[in-house]
Amino acid sequence: MHKLIDNFGRQISYVRLAVTDRCNLRCQYCMPAHGIDIVPRKELLTYKEMYRLIRVLTELGVNKVRLTGGEPFVRKDFMSFLEMLSYNDLLDEINITTNGALISEHIETLEKLDKVKNINLSLDSLNTDKFAKITRRDVFPEVYKTFQLLEKSSLNLKLNVVVQTGFNTDEINDFVGLTKDKNIALRFIEEMPFNGKGQREMKENWNYNKILEEIKSQYSVENIISEKSSTSRNFSIKNHQGTVGIIPAFTRTICNDCNRIRITSIGTFKNCLFDDGVFNLRDFIRNGASNDDLKELFLSLIKEKPENGFIAEANRKQGSVSESVSTIGG
Ligand code: 5AD
Ligand code: SF4
Repeated sequence: MHKLIDNFGRQISYVRLAVTDRCNLRCQYCMPAHGIDIVPRKELLTYKEMYRLIRVLTELGVNKVRLTGGEPFVRKDFMSFLEMLSYNDLLDEINITTNGALISEHIETLEKLDKVKNINLSLDSLNTDKFAKITRRDVFPEVYKTFQLLEKSSLNLKLNVVVQTGFNTDEINDFVGLTKDKNIALRFIEEMPFNGKGQREMKENWNYNKILEEIKSQYSVENIISEKSSTSRNFSIKNHQGTVGIIPAFTRTICNDCNRIRITSIGTFKNCLFDDGVFNLRDFIRNGASNDDLKELFLSLIKEKPENGFIAEANRKQGSVSESVSTIGG
C-alpha cells in the first residue's frame, strides 16, 4: 500500500476535518464580535464527500480523524455522520473538538460509538462572567455541565484552555488545581493570531515558557514522555490524577514530529495550520475525480508539506495569518 510520507520522512496518520465553519459562540481570539462571513451551504463539503475523502485517506495509512469546526455540533445531523464514519473499518479513532455548549444530551450516544475515544473540550475560564466575556455568549453553566458529564463518562477528556493575556492568565493554576481529583488531560494553548483580523495588541507574551513558569510557581511538575506526534508537552504532578500539558501552537517547537494534515469545511487541503491552503478538494471531486485520482493527488500534495509552521507561514501567498480558526478548523 502507498503511504503518505512527506519529504522529511514524516508519515501522515492523522487528518483534522472541519465539518462546518459555523459556530454558536464568538470567542474573542477566534472571531470579531459580529462573527465571520460564513460560506453558502453548497460550498461546504457534504457528509458523503467527507466520508469519501476520509475513506481514501485511510486507504493511504491515515487511521485517526479529528472532527472540528467552527463547532461540529452546529451542523445538522452531525451525530449521524459520526455513525456513518464509524463504518470505515480502516479508522481506529474518531476524536472531536467541541465548545461543549450543545452536546450534553449526546454524551450517552457518543459513549456507545466505539471509535469515538477522545473529546477535546474548550473551556477558557472557570468564572461565569469571564467566560461570557471571552466567548461573548452566556453559556458557562451549560459548558460546565458538559465538562462534568464528560469527566464521568467513559470518553477520554482533554480540556483545552487558550491562554489569553488580559483575560485568563490569573486562572492558570486554578485550572491546574482541577487535575488533582479529576482524570483529565488539561492543555494550555498559546494564543495564535487566527481570529478573523490578525494579531491583537498584547502587553505580555504568554508563551510556552511563561505558562510553564507560572505552573511551576505553585506546583512541582515532572515531564511525561508523550507519544512522538503529540501536540503538547506533558507533565504530571504528584498526587494529581490528571495531567497538565502545554501546546506551543504559536512558537511551533513540535513541528518535527507532525503527522497531521487538514481539510477545511469547504474542502481546502492544508498541509499545515499556518499554510494558506494548497488544494481545492471539493471542486476536484465535484468535477468527477475517481478515488485513484484522489490517491495520486494526496500522495503528491504531501510532498509539499513544509518542514515547519514558520516555513509554511513564510510561503503564504495571502500575507500574514489572520483567518479565523473556525474557517481553518481548530
Ligand atoms: N489561538 C489558539 N487557539 C485557538 N483556538 C481557537 N482560536 C485560537 C487561537 N486564536 C482553539 C480553541 C479550541 C481549538 C479548536 O482551537 O480554543 O480549543
Ligand atoms: Fe466557536 Fe471555537 Fe471559535 Fe470559540 S474558538 S468562536 S467556540 S470556533
